[in-house]
Amino acid sequence: MGNYIVELENISKSFPGVKALDQVSFTLKSGEVLGLLGENGAGKSTLMKILSGVYIKDGGSMEIFGKKVDFLTPVTAQKMGIAIINQELNLCDHLTVAQNIFLGRELITNGILSDKHMNAEAHKILEKFQIDINPETVVGDLPVSKKQLVEIAKALSTDAKILIMDEPTSALTSKEINNLFAIIKRLKAQGCGIVYISHRLEELQYIVDRVMILRDGKYITTMDFKATTLSEIISYMVGREITEKFPRVEEKVGEEIFEVRNLNAGRMVRNISFSLYKGEILGIAGLMGAGRTETTRAIFGADPKESGQIFIDGEEVRIRRPMDAIKAGLVLVPEDRAKNGLCTKLSVKENITLPNLDIIASKLGLVNRKKEEKITETSIKNFDIKLANAEVLADSLSGGNQQKVIVSKWLARNSKVIMFDEPTRGIDVASKVEIYQIMNDLKSKGIGVLFVSSELPEILGISDRILVMADGKITKELDVKDATQDLILEYATKFDKKLDSRQEAIEA
Ligand SMILES: Nc1ncnc2c1ncn2[C@@H]1O[C@H](COP(=O)(O)OP(=O)(O)OP(=O)(O)O)[C@@H](O)[C@H]1O
Ligand SMILES: [Mg+2]
Repeated sequence: MGNYIVELENISKSFPGVKALDQVSFTLKSGEVLGLLGENGAGKSTLMKILSGVYIKDGGSMEIFGKKVDFLTPVTAQKMGIAIINQELNLCDHLTVAQNIFLGRELITNGILSDKHMNAEAHKILEKFQIDINPETVVGDLPVSKKQLVEIAKALSTDAKILIMDEPTSALTSKEINNLFAIIKRLKAQGCGIVYISHRLEELQYIVDRVMILRDGKYITTMDFKATTLSEIISYMVGREITEKFPRVEEKVGEEIFEVRNLNAGRMVRNISFSLYKGEILGIAGLMGAGRTETTRAIFGADPKESGQIFIDGEEVRIRRPMDAIKAGLVLVPEDRAKNGLCTKLSVKENITLPNLDIIASKLGLVNRKKEEKITETSIKNFDIKLANAEVLADSLSGGNQQKVIVSKWLARNSKVIMFDEPTRGIDVASKVEIYQIMNDLKSKGIGVLFVSSELPEILGISDRILVMADGKITKELDVKDATQDLILEYATKFDKKLDSRQEAIEA
């Protein structure tokens, strides 16, 4: 088969209760970008973890650079030139950026670990790829988007010939994505073979040569990207056509249920005031770093407020910590699921019931097993969460299914206002529609829905009213009927006028 650098044949892999891969074959050429696509739980990450030595295959054969390989470990895979950018960021929060980049292959000077040496080398790597992060920063202090860049720098630092990117852009800003695409083009020209996994299908057109589709652990097809269309790709992924991407429901707008008045909290939350009414979804648009996450966190009591008032149903509520908010009926579905949203070492059931113990436990603190089962079962069913059973550890779920667990646990209780921060990040097309439908349901039930998203099509498709933020302030309020992508971008870049169009930036 000539120029293939990877040939996997009939790869199978099972986990207790799940057949993650069922005789899947896969090829990669040098100098190409292969888009590996499929719904949440289709087996994409598992296949790539086998190629990078993280998992051991149950069956099938692998040829890498024309050599038969029976057994790979992360170290031998790295030695063969395979690097992976993990979907669930795999960084040590207590170490610095440089220490993370060189984890497992630390630089040693005169027999001792040399932070100085590693900082200098990390600085070079970051500079080469135009990633603006100080190598001495402790990773735990970085926001998600920067963490993702560290993960990328770590993979790039190994001079890989086979580079696997599992959802690399899910938390990046538009500018950072442009930079990543430029890097991809450069690596491609140097003959690197790249596997690109993403649920942001609109990205594919800028970089991908071929696409390969998995569904339910099975190989479906491989196509030249130019010879296909997005709707064809989606129907192969889902196994059916998706007619309505943004299922909007019209509700009559009722009384005010939630108000934030003059909220200040640090540099990124300046004088924020808005109201939320029954029967509407309020979208918050803006670029990454505009202060949207900080605003939701300050409202929720996860970060301290300097000043400001919050009203639910016309009554002022004092929120000093998240528990105050939850008790008042206000919850937050956060952005960084690994850090704030999920206890990965607990079971799915425990994750769903943990924030709801007050509902399912008696006054004496005894958990009512029946209620616990019921809440868990309903959540799994409502969100179609793919798992063997509710007792499995949360980190055994595919990335998208983890996200569904986080959203579902907050919906299990009767909240009055729900704030979603990037709820569809890393979620496949069909499940996105499920999440929109859930938001619509909440809206119809009179629950206030606040919806932070960086994806303009979904902001425009689902919200009824839109707040645009830039640099910690609300720069515009728009009725969805008057809103367009251009208009939102204009107000989102009030302080950053020179935003190149993506294509221009990549070509440059
Ligand atoms: N370590 C594990 N233990 C148990 N089950 C697992 C493990 N890793 C993956 N699985 C299961 O294997 C199946 C495939 O998961 P995988 O992570 O490969 O999906 P994916 O295509 O990457 O999905 P996503 O788009 O959501 O990231 C899922 O049902 C998942 O729950
Ligand atoms: Mg995955």
